[in-house]
Amino acid sequence: MLNITIEKTTQPKEKPEVDNLVFGTYFTDHMFVMDYSTKKGWHDPKIIPYQPVALEPSAMVFHYGQEMFEGLKAYKNDAGEIRMFRPNKNAERSNHTNVRLCIPEIPVEDYLQALEALVSMEREWIPTKPGTSLYIRPFIIATDPFLGVKPSETYKFMIITCPVGAYYKEGLNPVKIWIEDEFVRAVKGGLGEAKAGANYVASIKAQVKAHDGGYSQVLWLDGVDRKYIEEVGAMNIFFKIDGEIVTPELNGSILPGVTRDSVIQLCKKWGVPIVERRISIDEIYEAYTNGKLEEAFGTGTAAVVSPVGELKWGDKIMHINGNKIGAVSQRLYDTVTGIQTGIVEDEMNWTIQVK
Ligand code: COI
Repeated sequence: MLNITIEKTTQPKEKPEVDNLVFGTYFTDHMFVMDYSTKKGWHDPKIIPYQPVALEPSAMVFHYGQEMFEGLKAYKNDAGEIRMFRPNKNAERSNHTNVRLCIPEIPVEDYLQALEALVSMEREWIPTKPGTSLYIRPFIIATDPFLGVKPSETYKFMIITCPVGAYYKEGLNPVKIWIEDEFVRAVKGGLGEAKAGANYVASIKAQVKAHDGGYSQVLWLDGVDRKYIEEVGAMNIFFKIDGEIVTPELNGSILPGVTRDSVIQLCKKWGVPIVERRISIDEIYEAYTNGKLEEAFGTGTAAVVSPVGELKWGDKIMHINGNKIGAVSQRLYDTVTGIQTGIVEDEMNWTIQVK
C-alpha cells in the first residue's frame, strides 16, 4: 500500500472544449511521480502539479532509451460514475515490459492505487461526450547520470493524463493503411512484445512514408520473411475472411494488446468464429481477390476498434467493405465502448469503478 502525498495545484488550467479534443494535446492539472533507487526500492509516491521534469543531460534514458510506457483510459458517464477499463492488464503488462528492459517491477496493487488516486483527483477533467475519455499514460525512465550501457540504478515512474477524443482524425470512419515491406518494426527476441518507446521510434520512418502517400498508419510484416502480418502502428489487426475473424497469433514480436484480448474474448462469447494464427499478406490479397476479405479493423486503447477501409501493398490496393465499417467491427466497437462507459452490462468484470 502506497502512502501517496498530495500537493494540489494553485493554478488550475482552463479545460479544453470537448468538441475539439485532439488526441494527446491537453494535459490535466496533476501528475503522479514515484522514484526508485537500488537502496530504497520504489519510494516517495506523490501527486504534484503537472510540471517539467528536471534531469541531468547524462540521464541514461536520453542515451540508450531505457524507457517503457503504458496506455489506458478512464470514462465518466452522465451520472458522474468513473470507470477504468482493465487497468490490472496494463499493470501486469507493465511488469512484463519492465522485466524485458531490466527496469524494476512495480507491485500490481501499488500501480492500481496510483492510477486510481490520480484519476480520482482529475475527475473534473474526464469528458463525458460519447467517444471521449481520459487517456492515462504511465511511463518509467532511467535516470542515472551515467554513459555506460547497463541497467540504471535509479528510475522515475510517472503518470500523466489527458482528455481525448478519437485517436484518428477519421473518428470511426475507416482508415487507410500502408503495408510496409521495406522497414521492419521488431523481430522475435527483440522488444516487439514489450511496450517500449524504442518500438515506436523504430516505426516513425515508415509512418512518415505512409503519411506522405496519404495513409494513416503502417501495417508491419514480420522482420524475417517480410511476409507475415504483425500489427499496425498503434493497434493490433483483425480481418474477417469468409465469415471467420483472424488475427496474428502472439509470437514474441507483437504487442499483446488489452483491446485485442477483449475483442477475442467477446467474439468467443458471442460464438463468432475467431482464430489466432500466422497470416501471410499473400493470403490476405488472395482473399481480397476472391471477394472473401469482408472486414478489417484495428484494436488498441487509443484507437478502440477502428475499421480499415483500404490496404495498400506495393502497387496493389485493396478496398474493404465499400469503405464502410463492417457489422462485426461495429458490434465490437459498440460493445467495448458500451462496457467502458457503463451503458452495456460488464458481464466480464472488466471495469473498475473509481471513487
Ligand atoms: C495506446 O493505444 O494506448 C498506445 O499506447 C498506442 C500509442 C501509439 C497511442
